[in-house]
Amino acid sequence: MKAVVITSPGGPEVLQVQEVENPKVEDDELLIKIEATALNRADTLQRKGLHPPPKGASPYPGLECSGIIEAVGKGVTRWKIGDQVCALLSGGGYAEKVSVPAGQVLPVPPGVCLKDAASFPEVACTVWSTVFMMGRLSAGETFLIHGGSSGIGMFAIQIAKHQGAKVFVTAGSEEKLTFCKNLGADVWINYKTEDFVARVKEETGGKGVDVILDNIGGAYFQRNIDSLNVDGRLFIIGFQGGTVTEVNLSGLLARRLTVQAAGLRNRTPENKAVIVNEVEKNVWPAIAAGKVKPVVYKSFPLFEAAEAHQLMESSKHIGKILLVP
Ligand SMILES: NC(=O)c1ccc[n+]([C@@H]2O[C@H](COP(=O)([O-])OP(=O)(O)OC[C@H]3O[C@@H](n4cnc5c(N)ncnc54)[C@H](OP(=O)(O)O)[C@@H]3O)[C@@H](O)[C@H]2O)c1
Repeated sequence: MKAVVITSPGGPEVLQVQEVENPKVEDDELLIKIEATALNRADTLQRKGLHPPPKGASPYPGLECSGIIEAVGKGVTRWKIGDQVCALLSGGGYAEKVSVPAGQVLPVPPGVCLKDAASFPEVACTVWSTVFMMGRLSAGETFLIHGGSSGIGMFAIQIAKHQGAKVFVTAGSEEKLTFCKNLGADVWINYKTEDFVARVKEETGGKGVDVILDNIGGAYFQRNIDSLNVDGRLFIIGFQGGTVTEVNLSGLLARRLTVQAAGLRNRTPENKAVIVNEVEKNVWPAIAAGKVKPVVYKSFPLFEAAEAHQLMESSKHIGKILLVP
């Protein structure tokens, strides 16, 4: 089969389509013929040599896909050859085929085309496992999403609105903020021209928000703490603003704050299966009801993976970028 190989750590040009061996299918796995895969920011880090795949995972990038089941391991009962599915992967999505534990596979949500279904598994599992399973965001609470127009952000806005939260977003341009507003966000903050802490305070009567989903890390740590309400929860899922900072901890104690960070990729298959199961129970009905829609900015053929990475690193995109074998 063909797959995108990272020929050496480096810029987008190191991504090259090569002929490689078909993946093996273990007893608890499925083989999927890929219809589409979606980019994640982490793929660009893997390409640079900064985010190696976990032990045993495919060396090719790609953390989610959609497609048609081509083979079923002996121990798998739920799925059969020919089923249309999407899946959370530990790697290997940038290819014509991928094998994946059956517990990480989901049906294509009703009303979504097979190709667009590739845009959901990674963002849905990340947001649901952090903000809702660990962070218990509930109806009536306030929720700040940094990078509201990102792949993660577009999903987080829609599912949080569906769950009844009041949604605040930051983004770096008026075009991106308008997009977030159209998806249902209630408060839009241009982080390049406004102080998000001041706006959050102004919009919440000085209290702060209840939950923050943060992709920036170090550069926003103090300001995130300063933006949280009593019993507030900060979830860090990315370090686009670095991992090291100096912080005044007094707000943590005074307002009983919780700070948690979590990644998906290095979890065990059993742990991923629990999350995927919760996502199917709680998120898939919202997609089926049209309350959460896929947002695909652009699709590239697999052999243009380098161009797709360039687009992601330019941050011009809004929503998800797909690759189609
Ligand atoms: N922990 C996990 O398991 C997990 C899983 C998936 C994703 N992630 C992380 O989640 C983040 C988003 O991933 P993605 O795939 O959705 O990437 P993406 O679509 O490329 O989004 C990155 C976003 O960051 C925004 N941004 C950059 N600097 C910012 C700042 N100072 N303040 C606010 N927003 C800023 C960019 O928008 P602007 O143009 O508006 O700056 C862009 O929309 C990444 O950091 C990724 O590593 C983590």
